[in-house]
Amino acid sequence: MIIFEPFYENYGADVILCGAQPKYIQLKAPDFSFDYDELAALFSEKTRAIIINTPNNPTGKVFSRDELSFIAGLCVKHDVLAITDEIYEHILYDGAEHISMWTLPGMSDRTIIVNGISKTYSVTGWRIGYVLAPPDISQAIRKVHDFLTVGAAAPLQVAAGEAMRFGPEYYDELAEFYRVRRDFLFDVLEKAGFNCIKPQGAYYIMADFSNFGWDNDVEFARYLTSDIGVAVVPGSSFYRESTPEATRYIRFCFCKQFKTLEAAAERLAKLTRTVK
Ligand SMILES: Cc1ncc(COP(=O)(O)O)c(C=O)c1O
Repeated sequence: MIIFEPFYENYGADVILCGAQPKYIQLKAPDFSFDYDELAALFSEKTRAIIINTPNNPTGKVFSRDELSFIAGLCVKHDVLAITDEIYEHILYDGAEHISMWTLPGMSDRTIIVNGISKTYSVTGWRIGYVLAPPDISQAIRKVHDFLTVGAAAPLQVAAGEAMRFGPEYYDELAEFYRVRRDFLFDVLEKAGFNCIKPQGAYYIMADFSNFGWDNDVEFARYLTSDIGVAVVPGSSFYRESTPEATRYIRFCFCKQFKTLEAAAERLAKLTRTVK
């Protein structure tokens, strides 16, 4: 199974738990694009699936139509499934468009859409998710789900059904709610001395902290938490190995109340920069 790296932590472990072998393709800074030839070379007769998360955690990347069409072409050519995690589909900025893989030619019968209500309706922790897949695959997924978890809490499913009836203005407000927070935190981080990539979607900012003279993301994250008072996730937790690429970043999250972000801004102003 092919996974884009950096990746949402569960993918690597989930693939291994399935008995599959993960193969990784790098999303490269500054724009977290990938090399088409490198991806094409990863596909072989043993490839069963590719996992795509767009809008992306942790990078904020939104895969373009061109990128998705290229991946779709490879899936069709090699008879490979696309497992698409679309949980941030409504959190988009600056006119970025979410394209669902199943809408591309040849993909409707080979795409498994994974989604959930936690981000769209701001109920992280409820763990209400859903899958859309072709009938034969859906049958198998439902069996596994029934035997593993039986079912999600029924009252929460009823609430999820209610939320799904919200009108389009709800989704516009949601994106705007996060856009102002993204812009605020992005400016704070740039002023403090981080090099950031402005996310096109989701609610995270990957920040390169090499200007501060630290070279270990875990130590820097610990320092930020204990001495500065702002908790972040070390970049290497989204990579399989602690390579120099992985340890250059920390991930900030801006799904917070504005006053929390303002307090973070005050604290981050205390950071001293050692520009190299
Ligand atoms: C990319 C991605 N997929 C799935 C999830 C899981 O969401 P939940 O467990 O809240 O349904 C998350 C949560 O952070 C995520 O970032």
